[in-house]
This record gives sequence, C-alpha cells and structure tokens, in this order.
Amino acid sequence: MAMNKQGHAQWSSSFGFVLAAVGSAVGLGNIWKFPYMVGESGGSAFVIAYLFCIALVGFPILVAEWLIGRRGQKNPVNTFADVAASQGKSRSWGIVGASGILGGFLILSFYSVIGGWALNYITKIASGEFAGQDGDAVGATFDAMLASAGTLTIWHTVFMVLTAIIVGMGVTGGIEKTAKVLMPLLGLILFVIAGYNVMNGGFGEAVAYLFAPDLSKLTADVMLAALGHAFFTLSIGMGIMIAYGSYLGREVNLLKTARTVVILDTVIALAAGLAIFPIIFSNGLDPASGPGLIFVSLPIAFGSMGAGTIIGTLFFLLITFAAITSSISLLEPTVEFLEERTSMSRTVSTIVASIVIWLLGIAALLSFNLWADFTIMGNGVFDALDKLTSKFILPLTGLAAIIFLGWQMDQRSVQQELGLSNGTWTLWQIISKFVAPIAVVIVFVTTLMG
Ligand code: TRP
Repeated sequence: MAMNKQGHAQWSSSFGFVLAAVGSAVGLGNIWKFPYMVGESGGSAFVIAYLFCIALVGFPILVAEWLIGRRGQKNPVNTFADVAASQGKSRSWGIVGASGILGGFLILSFYSVIGGWALNYITKIASGEFAGQDGDAVGATFDAMLASAGTLTIWHTVFMVLTAIIVGMGVTGGIEKTAKVLMPLLGLILFVIAGYNVMNGGFGEAVAYLFAPDLSKLTADVMLAALGHAFFTLSIGMGIMIAYGSYLGREVNLLKTARTVVILDTVIALAAGLAIFPIIFSNGLDPASGPGLIFVSLPIAFGSMGAGTIIGTLFFLLITFAAITSSISLLEPTVEFLEERTSMSRTVSTIVASIVIWLLGIAALLSFNLWADFTIMGNGVFDALDKLTSKFILPLTGLAAIIFLGWQMDQRSVQQELGLSNGTWTLWQIISKFVAPIAVVIVFVTTLMG
C-alpha cells in the first residue's frame, strides 16, 4: 500500500481494491440472510424485486459512495462535510457519515452473533455430530445452541476477537491479504455444493422456486425487504464504501469496478440459493423457517450425503471466511473515525470499538434465550437491530448519498470522473437523480402507510 499526496494510505492496486470490496459485499448477507429472506417471502417475487433494487438503486449508490469517498480522502463524517463544503454546501452533510458509522456498530453486533453460529457449526459438523441425524435431531441441536447464552457468548466472542485482530493489523496486512486468500476459496466451495445438487435432486424445483416469475406475492413488504437487503448485501448505506473509496486511487474506473462487485455479489447469492434450496426441497424441509434456515436444514443433508462431513465442514468454513471479510469492513469505518478524530492509536481505537460492539452483541444473543420476553416495539433485541439497520438506517443513509451526488455536487466534474460520454451520461443522470432516489422514497412511503 502506497501513500498519496495527503499521506493517506492508498490501495496498492485496483485488483486489491476489488477483492476487498467483494470481500465486504459477499458475506452472511449472501449465504445466510438471502436464502432465508427468499424463503420467508415465498421465493421468486423476492428474487425479482431484489434484482431490480440491486441494478437500479444499489449500483448507483455504490458508485456514489466510492466517488464521494475518493473526493474526501477521510473518514465518512469528515469526507461528507469536506466534500459538501468544497461544493459550497453545508458541512452538516457530515451527519450522513455519522449515521452510517452508527449503523456499523449496530450491524456488526448481531452479525458477529451469526458469525459465531457458523464457527460453532464448523466444530459440530467436523466432529460428526450430525451424521445420520434426522430433521428433529438437527433442529433440537440448533435449538439447544440458541438456548445456551454461554455457548452463543463464547462463539460471538471468538468471532469478534478475530475481526478485531485483523482490523487492528491495518488495511494492508488485514483486509487486502485476507480477501486475496479467502475469496477464491469461497467461490470454489459453493460451486462444489451446487454441482453436488445437480446430481442429487431438487435442483429443478429450486430453480423454479427462485426464478419462475410469481408476481402475486410482490407486496410492499416484500419490496422493502428486498430494498433493505440490496443495501445490506452490497455493504452500502453505512459509510463502509465511503471509507474504502477514501483509499481508492484516481486511476480506478468506478463504474467498471462497481459492475464487477455487483455481479460477483449477485452471482454468489444466487449460487448460495442453488446450493441450499435443492437440499431443502429434496429433503422435504420448510423454506420459510427463518434465520435458522441454513443451520436447521443443511446439516440433515450433510449428515446423510457421502463425504457430508467434509463438504459440510468446508461449507461452514466458507461461511465464516465470508463473514470475516465482511465484518472487518463493518469495523473499519469506526476505527478509521476514532483514529483520525481522537488521540487514540489504531490499536486502542480497535479495542474500544470492539468492546462496545461485543457488549451490544451480548444483548442481541440474549434475545434468543434469557431475554426472549424483552421486546422493543414487538421485536426482540436481535430482530430490532436487524430491522432498524436494514429497513431504515441503510436505505435512508444511501438515499442521502445518492441525493448528494445527483443534486448537490457539480455535475460536470462528476461526469468527468465517471468518464461518461453524452448518451450514457444522460442515462446515468436519469438513474442517479430520479430513478434511484424516487424508488427508495416510494418503497418507504408505501410501507409506512401500509
Ligand atoms: N454485505 C455484507 C454481507 O452481505 C454485510 C456488510 C458488510 C454490510 N459491510 C456492510 C452491510 C456495510 C451493510 C453495510 O454479509
């Protein structure tokens, strides 16, 4: 990693940047959350809404965040304030960066809990615990894990410590190198499981379930869920991509890079769907079983398939790897902010932030057992954190970013920076000024009124 003129570290190559961005985007969102949300929303209606949201809202906002981050060259709060000031606008735009950083705290707290489930399942599957077990036994194992505050705390702690160590090592040593090793592995293992499914049944049914258009299920709620998930899966609406953009060199083409990241992220989510749903259908399991979906269904299949222990162990290793390259990106903006705004070193910033997030995670995991009866507006702590971030903070922060880019920044310089000629520039303007922001507002208002 080289230094730029301001002495702020910079990505050593655009390849390293793509890897880190893909590492952030591809995570539990693709492999744990996408399938269970598809299952809860009845299949293809969600998939179609999600693809639209990715293309028309997610993609432009991803570009907007990188562009703003590259202009600002600082943490998200100072970046937003500085870039706004340079355009003759109010420095209070910095609030957008701050709301993103807050979102990171909230997301990482429950994200780390699920990362812990995945870690725990590596050991469970590797030890052959599920061999020959039926659905009831596998479900009971999952329920027992949820019921044990101690078990959940241990694995949540291990996950959080791993994340903190990598972030504490700094962007070069941590994020870049980790992504380089882990991402190709991730693609490979998913491919192996999907391939196994083609030979072992349920594949056609899964394809129909995921892709046969059934618009009767396309309600406002499904739309909001799909919109929120588009933000979650691309890591936008939280300042992470703004922070990453601040490490981005001038020569990197934002549109092309965003296209690569969006395509890879979407392909991995769909591949996860093809790895998971055939197993669910061929074993007569319920696709709508919620956040436990991959944990209560897959072990049954791994327990009965040949080489299931190896494939299953690899699968949960993969999920954990993907989760860690994402969680380091959830922690990074907060650490960058503390490091630049306070006198704390990177190490101390990392430790302080991690402890606060870890404590919040404890509150989230207790909602599965000891605090099960404690609800905030009808939701347990875990669900409340998930909904508050995915359905509110991410879309609203992302909306602010795209409005800022489309309506507050000098458009000539944006056109130059994106390298677009007249026809494609007009298309970009229609999408960034109108389609993306209006889509977010419509989905939002419809849901609030419904
Ligand atoms: N995109 C990651 C996933 O799909 C989660 C994530 C990482 C994230 N960083 C983020 C979500 C920033 C929102 C904002 O698992």
